[in-house]
Amino acid sequence: MNLTAPRFARITGTGSHLPARRVTNDDLARQLAERGVETSDAWIVERTGIRARHFAADTDTCSDLAVRAARQALDAAGVSAADIDLIIVATSTPDMVFPSTACIVQQKLGIHGCAAFDMQAVCSGFVYGLSVADSMIRSGAASKALVIGSEIFSRLLDFNDRTTCVLFGDGAGAVVVEASNTPGILASDLHADGRHVEILCTPGTVSGGQISGSPLLQMDGPAVFKLAVGVLEEAARSTLKKAGRTDADIDWLIPHQANIRIMQSTARKLKLPLDKLIATVDEHGNTSAASIPLALDVAVRSGKIQRGDTLMLEGVGGGFTWGAVLLDF
Ligand code: ACO
Repeated sequence: MNLTAPRFARITGTGSHLPARRVTNDDLARQLAERGVETSDAWIVERTGIRARHFAADTDTCSDLAVRAARQALDAAGVSAADIDLIIVATSTPDMVFPSTACIVQQKLGIHGCAAFDMQAVCSGFVYGLSVADSMIRSGAASKALVIGSEIFSRLLDFNDRTTCVLFGDGAGAVVVEASNTPGILASDLHADGRHVEILCTPGTVSGGQISGSPLLQMDGPAVFKLAVGVLEEAARSTLKKAGRTDADIDWLIPHQANIRIMQSTARKLKLPLDKLIATVDEHGNTSAASIPLALDVAVRSGKIQRGDTLMLEGVGGGFTWGAVLLDF
């Protein structure tokens, strides 16, 4: 790399990990029926596009999933773990209250000393993390970063609440981002609006040796749906504007994989044909901060996304948070 030429951040490798246990809608409907909770494959598919999700083994931790995805991304980039100088783990299901899952990932990768921290922006966490890594790389604070989204949302689910427990899954996705003279990440745009904290939250916290408040996910689905559709279009448009690009420049849209109806509506608003939408929600469910890097890795490994393609990544989630990153892959 030429140190006097402009410095950009570029994704040089992707990786992902899905726990082995695949749970179809029918499997889940059967398990819920035993509790007297009624749902069906037809309802879940029609309202969300989800057909199956993966659930982590009881022994798995968020950092275990993250490390598996990270190792794949390092291999794909041809980068040794020892060369990584920044680790960002986007998660809402960390191994511990503290230290950060990023520190545990660092330890499991056998490297020590580099900056490592968690990014808590719920389902927007990966986009937030990628944007922060981009800024740190462009400023010279880092040169080779691992940005990981890893979640075990199954542990936050209330299996007596059919309006939420059918939506989420577990998994991890990771990218290696390196300093480069060729762009890379073109622009990003991040937002939050704390007035909407209560429409999507897991309000419990540790206090006096006990959980104070509910440790299970709560969501006002229709309210989230309404907000998500509006902000995703806005974020995409402002990111394109910052980069001096237009809708027509987008080769692939990779939105947070929460609900196929939200994703298709975003694509339509950006005037993108639906075959430019990367969708893995059918097989993964909503894996929160892991959903975008998981979908990215699947599309890269299947050959759909090619080097040089322009990607629009978009996150939206609890907080309320949202944001977008536009990049040349
Ligand atoms: N099975 C069967 N019936 C159900 C289920 C279920 N799993 N869940 C709800 N229903 C019923 C409801 O009880 C309701 O019945 P009623 O009409 O008799 O009262 C009916 O289905 C319709 O319920 P709605 O909530 O109005 O359904 P909607 O079409 O809004 O779909 C959904 C619900 C899928 C949650 C939708 O609102 C949505 O996807 N919202 C966005 C969610 C999202 O994106 N969340 C992730 C954000 S990212 C993050 O940060 C975690």
